[in-house]
Amino acid sequence: MNKPLNVLIMAAGLGTRMKSRRAKVLHELGGSPLIAHVVRAAQALNPRSIITIVGHQAEEVERAVLAEAGDLASFVTQAKQRGTGDAVESARSLLENSDSLVLVLSGDVPMIKIRTLQNLIEQHNNGGAACTILSVRLENPTHYGRIIRDDSDSFQKIVEERDASDEERQVKEINSGIYCFESEALYAALRKVEPKNDQGEYYLTDVPGIILAAGGKVSVYLHHDAREVYGVNTRAELAEFENLVRRAAIRKLMVDSGVTFIDPSHAYVSAEAEIGRDSIIHPNVTIEGKTVIGEGCVIRSGVRITNSRLGDAVVVKDHSIIVDSQIESNCAVGPFAHLRMNATLEEKATVGNFVEVKKSRLKRGVKAMHLTYLGDATIGERTNIGAGTVTCNYDGKNKHETIIEDDVKVGSDTMLVAPVRVGARSVTGAGSVVTRDVPPDSLVAGVPAEVKRKLK
Ligand code: UD1
Ligand code: CA
Repeated sequence: MNKPLNVLIMAAGLGTRMKSRRAKVLHELGGSPLIAHVVRAAQALNPRSIITIVGHQAEEVERAVLAEAGDLASFVTQAKQRGTGDAVESARSLLENSDSLVLVLSGDVPMIKIRTLQNLIEQHNNGGAACTILSVRLENPTHYGRIIRDDSDSFQKIVEERDASDEERQVKEINSGIYCFESEALYAALRKVEPKNDQGEYYLTDVPGIILAAGGKVSVYLHHDAREVYGVNTRAELAEFENLVRRAAIRKLMVDSGVTFIDPSHAYVSAEAEIGRDSIIHPNVTIEGKTVIGEGCVIRSGVRITNSRLGDAVVVKDHSIIVDSQIESNCAVGPFAHLRMNATLEEKATVGNFVEVKKSRLKRGVKAMHLTYLGDATIGERTNIGAGTVTCNYDGKNKHETIIEDDVKVGSDTMLVAPVRVGARSVTGAGSVVTRDVPPDSLVAGVPAEVKRKLK
């Protein structure tokens, strides 16, 4: 029977080399904080708990973890960052007597794959080790701790670069900073860690050597893909990672989902986005957050879509922005349209050039083709909104609602002074300023608009 698994994520450091006021693990990769990537990998292992060691900007880091892990998450504060050994020490009371496996991860190593962690745990369980270290070989191992082996190739110790001899620095096998420990052996060994090194810190990297000296077994899982364990240390590295994540997301959409990218190197798609087959994404499109796009859509250049949902066969023309909104199938949007704050376009609605839609519902077949602001409005089926129409929804204090019923023809340059309702099948003349409700089947015009005649 395998022991239960607890995951420990070290994330208390500031990350000085980021030259930032924000804690490193809060910097975003592919639209989510670095630590969110690590938490997602941890979650996929079905652990008993995910314990995060927090320090710098603890509250924000906790929020980022909770957003992913919810109930599984708990936190330990490491007030002073005295080294990775001290970080793990902070969780002693939670883990020392847990008789579990402790998987140690770093909040700044976001590319680690679930499969790799599973392999590490499997080797650990099969080998009967007290500690298993994930290592990789690097052409340029600078800055990393080195795995030192004896003549028979068995693990001896980890040496940090700054404490290493010239000979040890030649070693290309490095410590990834990811380990699997038996809880008991880990916390027994941690008692013996001393800050006797160049930085005067408590190093977790001393623990495997201590376990070995105490007669415990230490194994090393040498992984083939070094990229997975790269840590983010500078913004230059963050940008490289961003590129890798983005390329992987786009490749997956092309290969697995059947999406066409006209120029994959100039498209920006979050890892959480879903796009249906035969959709075509033109250059310089940004798709952020949990956006879902259906099949056979066309997204033209310069469009940004954030946390929105598009049905099938939607065309979004150049330079439109769609945020937190829903567009049903067979709609057309843009160019230069702006949909935001829960704008909803029902089937076959069309929104054209320089049209802004805020917190409004455009029902089936509505057309608003040119230079219009629709805010806090509900527009009935098949209604046509003429060029330059404005819902005057704000009186300086409050926002008011505009309701336009089915089959209305709103004349060009109509001002709808909310709260106001326009009845079904009515017509407003060009330049009308509608301050009072318009009954159904009427023609209104003028300033303020008055009923000129009944249409039926
Ligand atoms: C560490 C390892 C090194 C390994 C490398 C892999 C040690 C001493 N060295 O070095 O062998 O090759 O990772 O990336 O462990 N942290 C805390 N509290 C602290 C110190 C650090 O929570 O007191 C957190 C940091 O926020 C970070 C993680 O631990 O998320 C790793 O710390 P960092 O200082 O980046 O260690 P490295 O120098 O990269
Ligand atoms: Ca690091």
